[in-house]
Amino acid sequence: MSRGAKIAVLSLTAVLFVVFSLAIFAAESLAADAANGKKVFTANCVVCHGDQGNGSGPAAATMTPKPRNFTSPTEMKDIDDARLKKSITEGRPGTAMVGFAKTLKASDIDDVIAYVKTFLKK
Ligand code: HEC
Repeated sequence: MSRGAKIAVLSLTAVLFVVFSLAIFAAESLAADAANGKKVFTANCVVCHGDQGNGSGPAAATMTPKPRNFTSPTEMKDIDDARLKKSITEGRPGTAMVGFAKTLKASDIDDVIAYVKTFLKK
């Protein structure tokens, strides 16, 4: 390989490296953060949904309907991302599930959704 070709290959490799690093960085900063979601959950949701996410928090005993059990595939089967977002943002009318649109940032709602979904996999 000529010296010129080697320099060209090295430059191209360097450029690709920078592009891929930036792409990975961008993807990570956009993704919801379940670790922050756990903090949001502990502060705002545990009292009803319980720290295990199974709907038996200290305030849940006398509630009808009961808080959703996030660990139950049956209870969670119809609840997709769009419904999670709507229910957490706007609440569930006629139940103790209040909306968090005014109390949580949009990014905190995305993060808590990511955390709620981890209960099904545990
Ligand atoms: C005061 C008690 C209470 C608190 C606090 C609470 N929830 Fe709920 N949550 C409920 C109850 C009760 C239901 C069941 C509502 C129903 O059956 O429609 C529910 C249902 C849900 C559902 C299922 C909604 C659906 O579409 O069926 C999700 C998801 C949820 N809660 C997430 C959260 C998150 C996340 C937080 C914290 C940011 C939170 N909840 C805080 C009581 C609570």
